[in-house]
Amino acid sequence: MKPTLAAFPATRLRRTRRTPALRDLVRETTLTPGDFIWPVFVRDGDGIEEPVASMPGVMRRSVDKVVAAAVEAHALGIPAICLFPYTDPAKRSADCAEAWNPDNLSNTATRAIKAAVPDLAVMTDVALDPYSDTGHDGFVEAGEIVNDRTVEALVKQALSQAEAGADIIGPSDMMDGRIGALRRALEGGGFQNVLLLSYAAKYASAFYGPFRDAVGASGALKGDKKTYQMDPANADEAMRLIARDLSEGADMVMVKPGMPYLDICRRAKDMFGAPTFAYQVSGEYAMLAGAARNGWVDGDRVMLESLMAFKRAGCDGVLTYFAPAAAKLLNR
Ligand code: PBG
Repeated sequence: MKPTLAAFPATRLRRTRRTPALRDLVRETTLTPGDFIWPVFVRDGDGIEEPVASMPGVMRRSVDKVVAAAVEAHALGIPAICLFPYTDPAKRSADCAEAWNPDNLSNTATRAIKAAVPDLAVMTDVALDPYSDTGHDGFVEAGEIVNDRTVEALVKQALSQAEAGADIIGPSDMMDGRIGALRRALEGGGFQNVLLLSYAAKYASAFYGPFRDAVGASGALKGDKKTYQMDPANADEAMRLIARDLSEGADMVMVKPGMPYLDICRRAKDMFGAPTFAYQVSGEYAMLAGAARNGWVDGDRVMLESLMAFKRAGCDGVLTYFAPAAAKLLNR
């Protein structure tokens, strides 16, 4: 759209910025707690909230504490929580069988949350990295991350999550063909109403570093994820991935990381009009929270400004570790 403007002084764009009331009237974008999905880290034990060193303010919580967090999230108006397990290294294996154990941490937490706060949507993560001994999202054979055998395992993992009561399944693995395979399995398994939020345009990013610390995958990871996650130089390819995942049955799509990829969010929304989410990832959180801790930026303001940017870029919502803190501010 090309703005049509009368010449100065008929047009003085500062007129609409003069007072808070006028600025309220012409504001184009809104941010509410309803825009957030809150990622939380789950660990074993009881009564535990253990700080993640590289993510100031973020905890690994035992299931009882995750339930308490879920109750808090719901009270704040946050519609969804997303679970990431920190799996005991003793339960990680080459066959990744813990990924579809009905009683693994993710499934146990899902059941506990749905029992305590049924109205809060629970999103779960589909990928093998919390369960593999290589730190990769798929099986590794002769140095290669193999696609089709991984997809078969992801299907088992997703079905166990749906069985536990997950509302939204988030495949973050970037294997080809997994959305179609998951959709068919969910339909066949009686889970017609389970949503797939595809991590469709997920880049091989250095911004995931603190997350890998949080889930204990940093030490394990051998090599990098460049044969399945996207090259940060590419944008057209992101559109092809999103088109592909929507055609295979994704209900919603995600761009990840967030802040450095707002151009991808905007293009995706304009091109497809599908429910579009961005993931403000761990490294983005660490930068903002770390700078705020040091007094280098105003933490509350950079938090809200960064989150508003996702809405302005066309996103319907954002996965953010700031969710409860931002919701508290917005509810004031
Ligand atoms: C792995 C996964 C990652 C994140 C979510 N799921 C890391 C990775 O791909 O290595 C990153 C989230 C974050 O950095 O906050 N399946």
